[in-house]
Amino acid sequence: MRVGAKVVVVFLPSKRPWPASAVGTSIERMTITFITGANKGLGRETARRLIECGHTVLIGARDRERGEEAAAALGARYVPIDVTDDASVADAAANVAEHEGRIDVLINNAGVHGPAGDPGDLTAADALAVLDVNVIGVVRTTTAFLPLLRRSDDPAIVNVSSGMGSLALTHDPDRPESRVVVPLYTSSKAALTMLTTQYAKGLKGIRVNAADPGYTATDLNGHSGPQTVTEGTDAIVALATERPGAGTGRFVSRHGEIAWS
Ligand SMILES: NC(=O)c1ccc[n+]([C@@H]2O[C@H](COP(=O)([O-])OP(=O)(O)OC[C@H]3O[C@@H](n4cnc5c(N)ncnc54)[C@H](OP(=O)(O)O)[C@@H]3O)[C@@H](O)[C@H]2O)c1
Repeated sequence: MRVGAKVVVVFLPSKRPWPASAVGTSIERMTITFITGANKGLGRETARRLIECGHTVLIGARDRERGEEAAAALGARYVPIDVTDDASVADAAANVAEHEGRIDVLINNAGVHGPAGDPGDLTAADALAVLDVNVIGVVRTTTAFLPLLRRSDDPAIVNVSSGMGSLALTHDPDRPESRVVVPLYTSSKAALTMLTTQYAKGLKGIRVNAADPGYTATDLNGHSGPQTVTEGTDAIVALATERPGAGTGRFVSRHGEIAWS
């Protein structure tokens, strides 16, 4: 079944309402959304689409020039943040506390691919670098922004994970995820999906869900993915524009919910 909305197009295998009326809901609530790694790729397209939905969007980016360019082009506010740096993340939260005073949606999008090639060549430094962005960066950012989320009447966290972190999908011969060997990226995303379910159980009153964008043409993969960034942000935008009570602890692609395992 194909469900069309003005902003979000999601293909649904189930009959559950998905997504809820995104445009009206967002405008009424004047949702404030902070996105990490929003200067390019999926983060930037998510920012563009959420601004179109009526969100106030804060572009988190580690490079000032790239972040300011994206914010100016999209009509957002730039907030410096390097998710691998405790002080930078704390400064970003303080910046938002001073200017907006709260956020309603945190999108943990910043991510790196890390090395591919022979798994036997991987080093501990390689592993630490990938985990520092893709997993520990999410912990840093989430912890720092929790006080701002708790000032929202409907707080939500969207973690941008990947089907590459799913044991089910990486073992299904019909899926493209089963045909790649990228040990650090896949294991970091597996950790992120578990982090998401644990946050969903433990962070009371906050919806915490994970999105799988699907294989999308961005710098992350040398633009080899078949999807456009608009297609790749369907699940992220849907999760960021849901109504209160939409549910927590879900792993969602643009086709609907997918297996955690
Ligand atoms: N593209 C896909 O097929 C695909 C599929 C599934 C999941 N994903 C996930 O989607 C997310 C976005 O990826 P993308 O495809 O849009 O890749 P991308 O175009 O390479 O964008 C990655 C973003 O993350 C930022 N970033 C990296 N390290 C950072 C750090 N330490 N602090 C702050 N920002 C940092 C980058 O900033 P700089 O410009 O400064 O490097 C950039 O803005 C990632 O989590 C990725 O794993 C992508």
